[in-house]
Amino acid sequence: MKKIVTGIVVALTATTTLMAGVNAAACTGCHGADWSKKALGKSLNVAEMTKADIAAALIGYKDGSYGREMKGMMKGQVAKYSDADLEAFAQTIGK
Ligand code: HEC
Repeated sequence: MKKIVTGIVVALTATTTLMAGVNAAACTGCHGADWSKKALGKSLNVAEMTKADIAAALIGYKDGSYGREMKGMMKGQVAKYSDADLEAFAQTIGK
């Protein structure tokens, strides 16, 4: 049993390391280098959002459950990433 658990942990760690992660440079043109710009005048100030809210927004844009009139644009930004990538990235920005 211990061996199996260790194996899973190793596999998860390897997956995390392998993931290139979200390319922030693709986002900051719209959102600002410090994430405080309202993208195209339409987004919230992402720098003011909590990490949990950012994660929910990014995953929600991907699965279509979050967003307003310009959500289609954000879907295009996040569709190529895994939920785990988006979750991890959200932990690096916001409050
Ligand atoms: C072409 C401009 C553009 C790019 C590039 C872009 N965004 Fe956005 N983003 C927007 C717009 C516009 C919205 C508001 C969409 C809506 O109507 O829901 C938004 C919304 C968001 C929100 C939720 C805030 C809110 O208003 O509810 C987050 C978080 C976010 N973007 C993160 C990102 C990340 C991370 C990337 C890069 C992977 C990215 N954005 C790339 C334009 C952009």
